Amino acid sequence: METLIVEKSNCKVEVLPDLETLSHRAASIFVSTSRNSIATKKRFAVAISGGSTPRRLYALLGSEVYRGQVDWQRVHFFWADERCVPNDDEASNFRTAFDTLFSKIALPEKNIHRIKGEEVPDQAAGDYGEEMKRFFGGSGWPGFDLVILGVGEDGHTASLFPGSKSLEETVRLAIPVYLEEPGKNRITLTLPVLNHADQILFLAAGPSKAAVLSEIFGEKEKRKLLPAGLINPLRGSMIWLMDREAAGKLTQTQLIYCHCQIRDSETSSE
Ligand code: 6PG
Repeated sequence: METLIVEKSNCKVEVLPDLETLSHRAASIFVSTSRNSIATKKRFAVAISGGSTPRRLYALLGSEVYRGQVDWQRVHFFWADERCVPNDDEASNFRTAFDTLFSKIALPEKNIHRIKGEEVPDQAAGDYGEEMKRFFGGSGWPGFDLVILGVGEDGHTASLFPGSKSLEETVRLAIPVYLEEPGKNRITLTLPVLNHADQILFLAAGPSKAAVLSEIFGEKEKRKLLPAGLINPLRGSMIWLMDREAAGKLTQTQLIYCHCQIRDSETSSE
């Protein structure tokens, strides 16, 4: 596949051959971003997501290939969202990160800023907001060095769902999300927190994401109805990593407009 590079905005799209090369590319971005942040701020504050797409990335970061490239003592993990379940529940985003990554690296306990999904949602959201304020200090919005996000087929990201009042939150850092299905409540970072990140890294893979990506990169009227389409860092940058299947419905014009870099398997390890 040829490489298509167009510099246009603070958003860059890279299309990788498959989930494996996408995950390696994401791991190299994690490593380089962590090094830059630690060099300048003596810390790397990253908020991660759940779901299936980032699992391979987490496993790679905990593998011999990458784990020695990160100064884990200075890495602080937060979450973009969490399910309201105990932290040993299979649905827990903490459990996903623990099983795939934390159990493989020397990460200080104090560097894990868990959302306490086992607590009453509103209380847990408030406590998580206070934890972010303590960590980031100051009175403004937290400035995560990196936020890793996925996108649902309905255009949700973190636990911000289409049409939800959560999208209107402009004060709190984290809020509870009550879903119809029993036991499926969640806690999510709010849109202002996500859009104050220094860098957003979106991961999208598989044919089931092709339709929603064509809407996110399509006309503005449709994009602004989709939470993932509302993610646009105010001062930071954003990288979308998608595999060929997820990018399958993007037109050449969309790819050029959204500053696309198509990498083949040889170049994606840069
Ligand atoms: C979660 C995530 C959620 C996820 C999307 C995509 O806790 O589930 O935060 O927003 O990123 O649902 O999930 P997949 O990666 O499984 O497609």
